[in-house]
Amino acid sequence: MIAIGSDHGGYELRQEIMKHLEKRGQEYKDFGCDTPASTDYPIYGKKVAEAVASGECEKGILICGTGIGISITANKVPGIRCALCGDCFSAQATREHNDANILAMGARVVGVGLAEKIVDTFLDTPFSNDERHIRRISQIEPGYEPK
Ligand code: RB5
Repeated sequence: MIAIGSDHGGYELRQEIMKHLEKRGQEYKDFGCDTPASTDYPIYGKKVAEAVASGECEKGILICGTGIGISITANKVPGIRCALCGDCFSAQATREHNDANILAMGARVVGVGLAEKIVDTFLDTPFSNDERHIRRISQIEPGYEPK
């Protein structure tokens, strides 16, 4: 199950991405926003991040105008590794290297066609499980003190 959410800036692209997920046969839970009216991106960033952090959803997709505010918000939730991606290389690398569990995109940055390919890449790329990447991910967590 994929959690998805956006503010008004990402509303239209989110509709397209939900249709795309349906075509893929991918189940998702929609956390809003429910209308294109102006709203606040932290609401949806937090809802989706908490759904992923709790294990209710396996991964998440977040969209705002730039992808920046909503990704900053999601990354405040412990256990979340939210990657803002505007290209497929980054989406592949963040899954392989960072085991990113939320994809963020900017609807004013990427078009629908590219956004769909970024989503496919993000969902279809497994974590590498390489020792060095496991080590680095553990160093992101609070409590790690660089020597
Ligand atoms: C809304 O106008 C815009 O600020 C928001 O969607 C996002 O880009 C914030 O980072």
